[in-house]
Amino acid sequence: MTAPVTPVVVPGPAELAEAAASWTAQRVTAAVGARGACYLALAGGETPRGCYERLARSPYRETLPWPSVFVFWSDERQVSLDHPESNYAMAKAVLLDHVRIPAEQVFPLVGDPTPGLRRIPADAGGRPRFDVIHLGLGEDGHTASLFPGSPALKEVRALIAQVHDAPKPPPDRLTLTLPVLNAARAVLFMVQGTSKRQALARVLRGDPALPASHVQPLDGELHFIVDRAAGGQ
Ligand code: 6PG
Repeated sequence: MTAPVTPVVVPGPAELAEAAASWTAQRVTAAVGARGACYLALAGGETPRGCYERLARSPYRETLPWPSVFVFWSDERQVSLDHPESNYAMAKAVLLDHVRIPAEQVFPLVGDPTPGLRRIPADAGGRPRFDVIHLGLGEDGHTASLFPGSPALKEVRALIAQVHDAPKPPPDRLTLTLPVLNAARAVLFMVQGTSKRQALARVLRGDPALPASHVQPLDGELHFIVDRAAGGQ
């Protein structure tokens, strides 16, 4: 069981973007230094946009070992990769088009993502062990595309789950499952805005009714960077 987590509370979205970029840069650099590669899963939605825009600017654009980074997503909406609702499209526009990650090291979550996931070094349980996973938080406590009451929450073997009834449109999605999220070396939740305040408080209390409460890395770091609007200070 992961120990209770104390979030880092920053004034607002700009500070959240900076803090999340700095946190991520440290772990990307450490992973490449230690193992020669960094396996990174980006979050979807709007909150991480600021962090990704920040990573695409100085000093991170020039200093991070981007050619050794392998990029995945923690979830994806099943729309075309150039669709405005695509998580891939957002990250490509604000980050991937601005840093030197080889195209063959970018793995959109479409079709059967298993071959790409199997390139990631596995933990003792055979689960891909990401170095960094970014996650957001929904007002209902969902994370990635793991929504309250979803059968995907019960997946203990599959690496990926298909979702066809997501209450947050679009309804059809692919998501990493909890075993993969919990195999990570480091998980970062980025949470901003007053609309997330109640869900965040419940997750930080470990309310089991909320999917995000079940993100508890077995042998890894769980970190929250939140703005004052969400963090209640
Ligand atoms: C998605 C995300 C989803 C998101 C939360 C928060 O594809 O929609 O993975 O889990 O992180 O819904 O979304 P915002 O950051 O837009 O509030």
